[in-house]
Amino acid sequence: MAFALLYLLCFFLFMILPCSILAQSSGNISLASSLTALNDENSSSWTSPSGDFAFEVSYAAMLDSGNLVLANRMSINLWESFDEPTDTILPTQTLSQNSILFARYTATNYSRGRFMFTLQSDGNLLLYTTRFPLETKNYAYSATMTMYTGFQVIFNQSGSIYLTAQNGSILKMISSNTVSMQNFYQKATVEHDGVLRHSVHPKTAASSAGKPMAWSPLISEPSNICSRIVGAIGSGACGYNSLCSYDDKGPTCQCPYGYTFIDPNDVLKGCKQNFVSQSCDEALSETEDFYFHEMQNAEWFDGDYEQFTSVPEDWCRQNCLADCFCVVAIFKEGECVKKRIPLSNGRMDTSIGGTALIKVRKGNFTLKPEGPNTKKKDYSTLILIGSVLLSSSGFLNLILLLTTYLVVSHISFRKARVIQPHSVMPES
Ligand SMILES: *[C@@H]1O[C@H](CO)[C@@H](O)[C@H](O)[C@H]1NC(C)=O
Ligand SMILES: *[C@@H]1O[C@H](CO)[C@@H](O)[C@H](O)[C@H]1NC(C)=O
Ligand SMILES: *[C@@H]1O[C@H](CO)[C@@H](O)[C@H](O)[C@H]1NC(C)=O
Ligand SMILES: *[C@@H]1O[C@H](CO)[C@@H](O)[C@H](O)[C@H]1NC(C)=O
Ligand SMILES: *[C@@H]1O[C@H](CO)[C@@H](O)[C@H](O)[C@H]1NC(C)=O
Ligand SMILES: *[C@@H]1O[C@H](CO)[C@@H](O)[C@H](O)[C@H]1NC(C)=O
Repeated sequence: MAFALLYLLCFFLFMILPCSILAQSSGNISLASSLTALNDENSSSWTSPSGDFAFEVSYAAMLDSGNLVLANRMSINLWESFDEPTDTILPTQTLSQNSILFARYTATNYSRGRFMFTLQSDGNLLLYTTRFPLETKNYAYSATMTMYTGFQVIFNQSGSIYLTAQNGSILKMISSNTVSMQNFYQKATVEHDGVLRHSVHPKTAASSAGKPMAWSPLISEPSNICSRIVGAIGSGACGYNSLCSYDDKGPTCQCPYGYTFIDPNDVLKGCKQNFVSQSCDEALSETEDFYFHEMQNAEWFDGDYEQFTSVPEDWCRQNCLADCFCVVAIFKEGECVKKRIPLSNGRMDTSIGGTALIKVRKGNFTLKPEGPNTKKKDYSTLILIGSVLLSSSGFLNLILLLTTYLVVSHISFRKARVIQPHSVMPES
């Protein structure tokens, strides 16, 4: 590929004329414009505006497969966009060892996000969470375990996706296609929620075979991402303090009672408490100011810091209430587990059982963001008046200080000037 990206220097003497002509039209190939190959000297090329650099290729083509290729005279592809995947692969595309697909950050932000899909050089094909904002891998939540055998991921012409060995034998079927290639567009994408989906889209309404005129997934890997990401490092499939639930549309993140999303447009940022945390000041015991919101079938894997067995639920409640570090207690079959913030790997599922006791402050939440607007306005008016008063008195203070400083420094300067001759004279 290196030679494909070689740039040719336009030789000043021979090329000055064609270069200067090309320079006016080239540089950008925008919509409705075209690149014309000049016939003289077999040197037709796509030059930079200055004419100093040019591409070494015979033609570029956007193929029906979706592959953009740059080919030489022998029609050999010197470069193709299929070799540089971002978050998606298409039928006829393959992934070789060391290929990585990065999930986008959110549905509408195409920056590299928090998940990746990679065929490692050891042959193992995995989905990982990343150590966002770095692009390094963190926790593997799906793996084929094909070390020493995995060679290539193939999305074949009939829409099946599988991992093969070097001899071409199929090691792992990822998705065996069930829809017609003539009637459906297909893609496999590692999506911003971390799920790898093989999705199809009808080409026309007439041939949709009852499917909606939209992308619908055929296969999702993993089948339940909420229960698959349970690493000691990282927040899980959703953000910190949130709870993940899974249905056929994919994972949904939600905040526990008393918490709201830090950023509703980016729920993976997690949830924050709507109330002031419990004081740890013993003289100011706030045990009476908190109570528990009960939640069935909810759990956070991790963040445990104390565990008691064979205790009654009431004992568990009292113990957590009296402990300023305890934000949630999980009570299940006589076992009481206290958890600290931030809570990670949260999920809801009927298979979990037990009771999550979520500790919240009594009365109206002091930091409630969804509170009535009038209240907020009242506060902001108060804040405005307060800050004007503060800043004006601060300003007066400043003037006073400055004046004092000027007067004092003026006097001391004069003194210094008077004193100076005496102190310098003896030395001279
Ligand atoms: C190419 O397009 C960009 C963006 O529209 C523009 O700023 C630039 O001047 C164009 N270059 C040439 C050589 O036309
Ligand atoms: C252009 O290249 C072709 C094939 O390499 C060659 O046959 C032909 O003679 C060349 N034409 C000129 C003008 O150099
Ligand atoms: C997309 O997300 C990244 C990572 O948070 C951020 O740096 C970037 O500004 C976002 N881009 C847009 C267009 O919002
Ligand atoms: C694609 O793979 C499937 C499953 O192995 C196979 O049945 C089908 O024949 C393949 N199609 C092509 C064009 O190789
Ligand atoms: C192909 O390679 C796989 C894995 O190395 C091996 O299990 C299989 O027997 C091979 N098949 C053939 C036909 O050589
Ligand atoms: C909470 O706020 C509502 C309306 O803002 C008020 O009616 C209610 O009395 C408050 N409750 C407590 C316990 O302060």
